[in-house]
Amino acid sequence: MAHQVKGVVAKSKGEPVSIETIEVPNPGSGEVLIDVKACGVCHTDLHYREGAINDEFPFLLGHEAAGLVEEVGEGVTGLAVGDFVILNWRAVCGHCRSCRRGRPWNCFSTHNATQKMKLDGKELSPALGIGAFAEKTLVAAGQATKVNPEAKPEVAGLIGCGVMAGLGAAMNTGQVSRGDSVAVFGCGGVGDAAIEGSRLAGAHTIIAVDIDSTKLEWAKEFGATHTIDSSKVDPVEAIREITDGNGVDVAIEAIGLPITYEQAFYSRDLAGTVVLVGVPNPEMKIELPMIEIFGRGGTLKSSWYGDCLPSRDFPMLIDLYLQGRLELDRFVSETIGLDEVEEAFHKMERGEVLRSVVIL
Ligand code: APR
Ligand code: ZN
Ligand code: ZN
Repeated sequence: MAHQVKGVVAKSKGEPVSIETIEVPNPGSGEVLIDVKACGVCHTDLHYREGAINDEFPFLLGHEAAGLVEEVGEGVTGLAVGDFVILNWRAVCGHCRSCRRGRPWNCFSTHNATQKMKLDGKELSPALGIGAFAEKTLVAAGQATKVNPEAKPEVAGLIGCGVMAGLGAAMNTGQVSRGDSVAVFGCGGVGDAAIEGSRLAGAHTIIAVDIDSTKLEWAKEFGATHTIDSSKVDPVEAIREITDGNGVDVAIEAIGLPITYEQAFYSRDLAGTVVLVGVPNPEMKIELPMIEIFGRGGTLKSSWYGDCLPSRDFPMLIDLYLQGRLELDRFVSETIGLDEVEEAFHKMERGEVLRSVVIL
């Protein structure tokens, strides 16, 4: 018997989302049914409803979630009913060319549930293969990562997407290490997480750059040692001043704009690293003098999902949180109900929140 539950659905491009009764199958082979407890509102959910990802409407939104395993399908090992899990969109296959080379965090063939959830008999496309603005959702077993159940669901769920992207941009992709100087462009949820990741990794100087003074104040709470309001001063000059004229070891772009990518590019020291974790739109282009790319040496990298490996990173980050070494509560700007997702999108667009989190 399939389950009938409430879920937040985007039915067509640009239209406000609505709460619908959807059908969630019992878990089949390799699948688990999740009793969702909390799910954060991420930019990607809004991008789906705007048709910016693909046209496979209707979408079941939500993907930054934590919950309890309610039922396990045939052949599932390592998960049991009642386990507290964070959902991930990188259930590694173990067989693709990247997994075979020992780089599962780049897996090119990640798993999702095989069976489809439905609305009025029509297949739903779950956001990032998850779909967790719903009382229950169906995922592949590898998409559910068991963590310490002492963490609150609304906090734990954030590790499933945006906060992981930012922490990982610093810790995994940027390889920030003890004594480094770092600049982070954009201090939303992702940028603030990159600031925290840099602090955790032992960075000595952490410079937050934003055009919103409130965001800069918040950035200090996550570990920024310096702030720059780039609506008022040239951030490249200001970063040079803070770093004895040299620039930073690692510059992290957490917005997804050509202008801030260029600023990040010019803010780094010789042989430094630039990490792009902000997601650009398909029309954006950058122009850089090739001699500068060559002459400055170093590394230009992109960070997909913070190059995380959920089985390695999620339990570790939750443990650091429970030990008081990782600030996560501060990312939760508000908790809301399923019926407030549309309003949360508007708050996100107006830059009023780091994260709105749906509690179920
Ligand atoms: N210069 C500096 N800061 C800027 C600029 C700019 N030109 N434009 C916007 N910002 C700041 C905003 O003031 C805000 O604080 O960037 C921050 C962006 O934060 P959010 O909108 O909250 O976005 P966030 O959730 O952090 O995601 C950032 O990462 O994963 C991607 O899709 C996501 O592309 C998005 C990016
Ligand atoms: Zn793989
Ligand atoms: Zn997301």
